[in-house]
Amino acid sequence: MTIDPATTTPRDVYRHLIACITPRPIGWVSTISPAGVPNLAPFSFFNGVGANPPSVVFSAVNRRDGSRKDTVLNVEATRQFVINIVSAPIAPQMNATSAELAYEVSEFKPAGLTELASVRVRPPRVKEALVQMECEVFDIVRVGDGPLAANLVIGIVALLHADDRVLDMNGQIDPNKLDTIGRMGSNLYCNTRERFEMERP
Ligand SMILES: Cc1cc2nc3c(=O)[nH]c(=O)nc-3n(C[C@H](O)[C@H](O)[C@H](O)COP(=O)(O)O)c2cc1C
Repeated sequence: MTIDPATTTPRDVYRHLIACITPRPIGWVSTISPAGVPNLAPFSFFNGVGANPPSVVFSAVNRRDGSRKDTVLNVEATRQFVINIVSAPIAPQMNATSAELAYEVSEFKPAGLTELASVRVRPPRVKEALVQMECEVFDIVRVGDGPLAANLVIGIVALLHADDRVLDMNGQIDPNKLDTIGRMGSNLYCNTRERFEMERP
């Protein structure tokens, strides 16, 4: 099979992409509206991209009607966000926050989650997440326009919080304790519990 995006619908292209770019980490992004309403949504077009300064990126694609998601509206207006890391036990709550609620309604309470005040930025953290990164927007890059076009949000991590329960004896974040999940295609997820090691050449 060969796929030419020029003759394939954005929806089908999206399905092919997320089926083969796997597993994807999940950035659980909290933001706040100019009126002060917190917003929370998961994004698996997400990654860390540098360490000096520490930088992250996520992409919120436009909705099917071409409109921008609440997260994009908020980061454009306030230039701040928090990345919360999703451990396996809180996967259901993460999934609940992907529901499309009205702009004036926060996803925290309906998903049974607790707002925790951030230190450097206005959007609250997810208290139940074991790692949270307070971020300032570095840039927002639009790739295309219309349905499913990307709004690439690049952020600089101003402060990283890690719960003591996920640290090993050397004070490093222990992947066994953090127990993150990954997103595959469609509604599939994976755990990160089976691992192997390879020496670098
Ligand atoms: C695990 C998971 C990963 C997701 N990843 C993305 C993504 O990378 N980009 C995106 O635009 N939407 C993604 N979504 C859908 C958004 O979370 C959803 O559209 C949400 O309602 C957006 O919220 P907002 O309008 O409050 O910003 C994902 C949903 C789930 C459950």
